[in-house]
Amino acid sequence: MSKNPLNGRKFEHLDKAFDAQVRVDSRPNWHQELTIDYEPLLAPHPNIEAEIANPTHQLSFLGKSFHFPFWISSMTGGIGPARHINQNLARVAVEFGLGMGLGSCRPLLEDDQYFDDFNLRPILGPERLFLANIGIAQIEQLLAVNEIERIHVVVERLKADGLIIHVNPLQEFFQPEGDRINRAPIDVLEEFLESAPYPVVVKEVGQGMGPRSLRALMKLPLAAIDFASFGGTNFTKLELNRGTYGAKSSYHDFALVGHTAYEMVGMVKQIELEKSIASRPQYIISGGISSVLEGMPCLAALQDRAILGMAKSFLNHAMGGYAELQNFVRTQVGAYLLACHYLHYSGQFISPVKGSLQ
Ligand SMILES: Cc1cc2nc3c(=O)[nH]c(=O)nc-3n(C[C@H](O)[C@H](O)[C@H](O)COP(=O)(O)O)c2cc1C
Repeated sequence: MSKNPLNGRKFEHLDKAFDAQVRVDSRPNWHQELTIDYEPLLAPHPNIEAEIANPTHQLSFLGKSFHFPFWISSMTGGIGPARHINQNLARVAVEFGLGMGLGSCRPLLEDDQYFDDFNLRPILGPERLFLANIGIAQIEQLLAVNEIERIHVVVERLKADGLIIHVNPLQEFFQPEGDRINRAPIDVLEEFLESAPYPVVVKEVGQGMGPRSLRALMKLPLAAIDFASFGGTNFTKLELNRGTYGAKSSYHDFALVGHTAYEMVGMVKQIELEKSIASRPQYIISGGISSVLEGMPCLAALQDRAILGMAKSFLNHAMGGYAELQNFVRTQVGAYLLACHYLHYSGQFISPVKGSLQ
């Protein structure tokens, strides 16, 4: 090959061009009613390294600053490699000015054996948004025995800014060791919120939620709603794959129900028009968001009230070590800045919410 770098590149172009084909129908199923305009004439290139060093796109979410609108969704803790993964995720959150949710802190309700897996505030520092996490089943159980204080103590000891409650009835049902949900989660949440001394966020775990649940949530004094919507990691599928019900039970169809982030943005926009909705919470658009471009129209629709959350994508790269994780986040930031400079979104999110649904 020629020593001239340009020639080298041109050879590479010839070589790699065959693998660089995209077809119009190979685009992910982005919302058909949205137009994404590419506007090449209206902005210079973003200076990505300068933006990382001195971010000018800062936003505030739950009262904390974010340099870029990315959230590291709740994942792990309490098992072998979890501490290292969590610590790397926390480091990258600091380096790029992001926020982070913990995986279920249930082990901390029992004893302190795994405290260090979850104890990320010393790495994150005071400025990054950091939220603890617990399941609705544990909240229900603690309320039933008048011991809800125990979860408040966990949040306080972690120096977390608040608590995410995951509402996962299908996962619990199909999990061989799962808990039974004995009260409607919305009633449990309402009772919990009466005494919660910190901001509370509610999420699903990969199937999102429909308009009735979303509307009921939007009537509660929540700090934010994390969609954890359908289209990516799916815990019903995961638990069913663990095998208690056999490979072909009709339970397997439950892995296919749920609502995408696009659908949920449409619902939010529609429900917010209703008079009975007084509060306007912030949103974590998450669940099946595997690329920044996929999430950008949802971000644009909810403007400065939303950030993009990812679990599996962060995990994927966190498992490869810090340099890989850093590289992944740098690319996410680059994609975000490029999209801000060159893409414009218009059109409607079509909402499945009908006026008569209550
Ligand atoms: C390994 C793993 C563990 C998870 N554990 C939790 C958890 O403890 N609590 C929780 O609320 N969500 C948990 N989730 C769900 C994620 O927070 C997220 O809602 C879901 O994975 C969908 O996002 P994704 O498609 O980007 O993966 C977990 C996800 C993964 C991949």
